[in-house]
Amino acid sequence: MQIAANGRQDSIQIKPLTASIGASVCGVDLANLSDNEFNVIQQSLFDRCMLTFPGQNIDNKGLLTFSKLWGEIMVTPMLTYLEGTPGVLEVQNRGKALTPTEYWHPDSAYLERPPVISIMAAQQLPDAGGDTMFCNQYLAYDALSEGMKSMLEGVRGKFTAAIMAKRTGHEGDVPYEYHPVIRTHPETGRKALFISGPDTVPSLENMSEADSRPLLDYLYGLCPKPDRSYRHQWKSGDVVMWDNRCSMHYAVHDHGDSVRIMHRVTIAGEKPA
Ligand code: SIN
Repeated sequence: MQIAANGRQDSIQIKPLTASIGASVCGVDLANLSDNEFNVIQQSLFDRCMLTFPGQNIDNKGLLTFSKLWGEIMVTPMLTYLEGTPGVLEVQNRGKALTPTEYWHPDSAYLERPPVISIMAAQQLPDAGGDTMFCNQYLAYDALSEGMKSMLEGVRGKFTAAIMAKRTGHEGDVPYEYHPVIRTHPETGRKALFISGPDTVPSLENMSEADSRPLLDYLYGLCPKPDRSYRHQWKSGDVVMWDNRCSMHYAVHDHGDSVRIMHRVTIAGEKPA
């Protein structure tokens, strides 16, 4: 236990969720963190790639207060944010055919500077299902042979907004960016495989889609291994945050038309390198 400058005692508890990714953080109020608590949470995020905070029941004001500790809150083109709370995106159940997030992905990787961190607070949950899965992309990189690692140095993938554009009616104008498929996390110095689902990374730079596909499928297939992932079953009051530089996530759509509402904030970041 640590005494903060204001005399408050910190009782933060961090427990790994699996041996390879994730930790749960208890004993904190995210809307009112001490400096020490923030430092412990930040280090845990860098170590574990994603964190859960059970029982927060945070409102949008608290969510924004917590989010601002991580950097600039960003607004992604094509997405519509909640009125009155700029930066808070309401993620809703649009039905299985229209869901834009049921595949492994880092958030909005089609931007020049994709969000580094995403923070999501449960608002209304289905009685069953609607889980989110996460996988560790450092470990996916570590699983590559040395030859493959050196072959991929400097190789860039074409990251497109194809799925988001289709789901939001912007099909005529699909933004894309080239990013390295091996990315170095600026805070930890570790290398991670930076990739996304086949519809969002159709090709590698200077290669046709047909030439790229086998390698991209191989790399994508390496990511969601059961022993490098964690499946979060949401509970009322949960907040979950993830680092898009070293993890991917997958929103499982198995809850039919049941209401599932989340409030999500993303933090602006650097150009992947
Ligand atoms: C997302 O992909 O950002 C949303 C994840 C979810 O709805 O579980």
